[in-house]
Amino acid sequence: MSLTALSTFKALSAHFENVKEMHMKDMFANDPERATRYFLKVGSLCLDYSKNRINDETLKLLRDLAQECALERKIEAMFSGEKINATEGRAVLHTALRNQSQEKVRVDGEDVMPKVRDVLARMADFSDALRCGRWLGYTNQIITDVVNIGIGGSDLGALMVCKALKRYAHPRLNMYFVSNVDGIQIQSVLDKIHPETTLFIVASKTFSTQETLTNALSARAWFLAHAHDEVHIAKHFVAVSTNKQAVQDFGIDTKNMFEFWNWVGGRYSLWSAIGLSIMIYLGKENFQELLEGAFEMDTHFRSTPFEHNMPVILALLGVWYVNFFDAGSHLIAPYDQYLRYLPRFIQQLDMESNGKRTTLKGEVVNYDTGPIIWGDLGINSQHAFFQLLHQGTHLTPIDFIASLSKEGNLPGHHEILLSNVFAQAEAFMKGKDYQEAYAQLIEKGVPPEQACVIAPHRVFSGNRPSNVLLLDAITPNSIGNLVALYEHKIFVQGAIWDINSFDQWGVELGKELAKDILVQLREGNAQSFHDSSTQHLINLYKIYNKGVLHADQE
Ligand code: F6P
Repeated sequence: MSLTALSTFKALSAHFENVKEMHMKDMFANDPERATRYFLKVGSLCLDYSKNRINDETLKLLRDLAQECALERKIEAMFSGEKINATEGRAVLHTALRNQSQEKVRVDGEDVMPKVRDVLARMADFSDALRCGRWLGYTNQIITDVVNIGIGGSDLGALMVCKALKRYAHPRLNMYFVSNVDGIQIQSVLDKIHPETTLFIVASKTFSTQETLTNALSARAWFLAHAHDEVHIAKHFVAVSTNKQAVQDFGIDTKNMFEFWNWVGGRYSLWSAIGLSIMIYLGKENFQELLEGAFEMDTHFRSTPFEHNMPVILALLGVWYVNFFDAGSHLIAPYDQYLRYLPRFIQQLDMESNGKRTTLKGEVVNYDTGPIIWGDLGINSQHAFFQLLHQGTHLTPIDFIASLSKEGNLPGHHEILLSNVFAQAEAFMKGKDYQEAYAQLIEKGVPPEQACVIAPHRVFSGNRPSNVLLLDAITPNSIGNLVALYEHKIFVQGAIWDINSFDQWGVELGKELAKDILVQLREGNAQSFHDSSTQHLINLYKIYNKGVLHADQE
């Protein structure tokens, strides 16, 4: 049965009609317990979800929807290794990568935990050797620079965690991430490093991603231009992949390969060998804490009734806004500088997972699914695009994310930062009505006839929802909590929307066409099957690069 035909969905539609005009300002005024009732703490994370357009009835109906969508069974199916990624026939077991219990996790009857632990142990040995200076380059020099070459899930998670936890980094090591096939990026890294003291990690689940392999080949050529002998590659290139054969074909000894498995989705892979750069940079103890933080959230998610279940609550709130308020996007606004890569990471995690329009049965949905996820550092965004969020015509739910602990030593900064988080959430909720705006103008001495004209521009409708997520501090453990929270939120939404959150067929068409276009860009006379616009652009590029004509002369 389609989601919209479920009795619980219909009950929510009816309820929406009753509550859609209610203002949160009044809800707070009439309910002194609201802030404490709509508050949760799990591990190092506090969630204040009181500034949402909900009441107890809304939450109950949303939980009923989750029940009717068999969420409990679906959660268990994921954790126990059922092949819930149906379009690829795969289990989805990023949770096994951080499983700290003795529970066996079976895929096709085989317990995957021994091999998970085995790869973690190999990663730990390797990162220990590199960090303490036992792993030397081909001229016996200590490694000082590490370059992770990967893209999407083989880049963003590790990049985000390394930046977030920079404070814990090994003082000798510089960590670089190269993802763009625009040669400028890798060139600018190569300009800073030296072949004798650099380790390249080629990170690719499939080991067939064009951008990654192109960058890796350029790194290899640069290295060999200095080292000359291919035998030295073994000291300076390691691979992280699920594809042994492709790693071998590329010329990396599989002894220098750290494996993971097809039941780990790319965007869910930072806990696997894809996290090698994290482990090298931060050390095995901090990587372990990261895993423990995620496991803590896994345990909470798997065993806590929906009423107190943080990922479930966040997910249901998202469904409420997407499917009833027509909210097309969702903002991630971290305030801590260390978390600046979080929006990009969550963007891939969420949009590649829930950007789907076909149900598991293959039918096109008649309701909206994953919203556009976007975001940036909140404090900078206040001076950039928050205007539209406050006074524009779209409803955009926001996650404000900040740390309760001061991260720097400079006096005064942290209080200012947090005062802005709390103030923004309050402003979005309360707004400012005409009377208030008018009275403020009069108080400032603006003549009444002018105040009447200006006041409407100073009105904020308010009633704009947000969650405030506060980390005790930015630690490996809290980052583990936080990432797992979003992973499970996304899972719950996919379960309700009845889509497969774990494939990504939508990225394939562009890849196929790019291969074909590349041939045309490189070889003059390849036959073309493109539309006239695409063909025109191809011709323009060729003409431009022959230096015959400039684009504007064509
Ligand atoms: O093109 C999308 C995608 O497949 C992502 O899902 C993945 O994270 C990224 O490309 C990189 O893929 P790989 O790790 O196989 O190089």
